[in-house]
Amino acid sequence: MLSKNLISINDISKSEILEIFDLADYSSKVFSEHKLPLQGYVLGSFFFQSSTRTQFSFQSSFVKLGGSYLGCNNREDIRCGYPYYESMDDFAKIISNYCDLIVMRSDNEEEMKQFIESAEVPVISAGCGKQEHPTQAILDLYTINKLLGRVSNMSLLIIGTPNQRTINSLLLGLNLWENIEVIILCQEGDTIKENIEKQLNNVSVQLFSSWDDLINSGKLLHINVVYIGEIYYDIYPVNHYMLNNHILKNYFSPNVIILSPLPRTNELSKEIDYHQGAKYFWQAKKGLNIRAGIYLKYFK
Ligand code: CP
Repeated sequence: MLSKNLISINDISKSEILEIFDLADYSSKVFSEHKLPLQGYVLGSFFFQSSTRTQFSFQSSFVKLGGSYLGCNNREDIRCGYPYYESMDDFAKIISNYCDLIVMRSDNEEEMKQFIESAEVPVISAGCGKQEHPTQAILDLYTINKLLGRVSNMSLLIIGTPNQRTINSLLLGLNLWENIEVIILCQEGDTIKENIEKQLNNVSVQLFSSWDDLINSGKLLHINVVYIGEIYYDIYPVNHYMLNNHILKNYFSPNVIILSPLPRTNELSKEIDYHQGAKYFWQAKKGLNIRAGIYLKYFK
């Protein structure tokens, strides 16, 4: 049973991640047999920044496992908003009396830190500012493992500005496996966060700033997985780094797997949806099982 916070992918070990993979597979059986391992448990769900996939998969899987949830998404619905501005640490102490586990997303890193420090039940980060999105990384690693059959010994192309929470957590998660080549396509001058880069022993990272350079490098043919995030454009026009059918068909292996945390960004052309390797909707579907696997790890 887990009794700790899950704020960074570094908060759990590789063996715990592998156990969550197994529990995610087992959760389909639990859902279909209507077993109710979480009966009587209450989840606190607070998404102070918008979310579709993470929020509703966390809520849905808790209910499917027999639990209930409470929560809100606006500070104004609780005393933390206008006009009372109750502190996040008081809120954390109070709400800990009413639930067994809390899931929170916030774009305010300081506010979430205060909440975590004062909460008296475990808190799972559903994405915090520009820091991390650990459960998305567990889902990404699960998807790669399922579709490629391994995580070690592979090449992954990330299209996206580094230092996004999904990319930060994914890089740290990949580092738990061996011999991983990561190429990041992003605007010139963008860099990986220093404290993330320092931790990467098993992942080699190379940054490219143009499709032409990347194509000329000859590396695209060996890419196993493309992971499409978002470019925060300030140099080029929007769509500059879009992956389209022309690039996909001419330069990548036909077996390449295309993933994305979604929502769809300018970098992910709709025409890619028809490619046999486009697995991002399957990936989002499996978010339900991964969140269920995480709950089963907490409550078993
Ligand atoms: N992948 C992800 O975090 O999506 P949402 O923002 O919709 O939760």
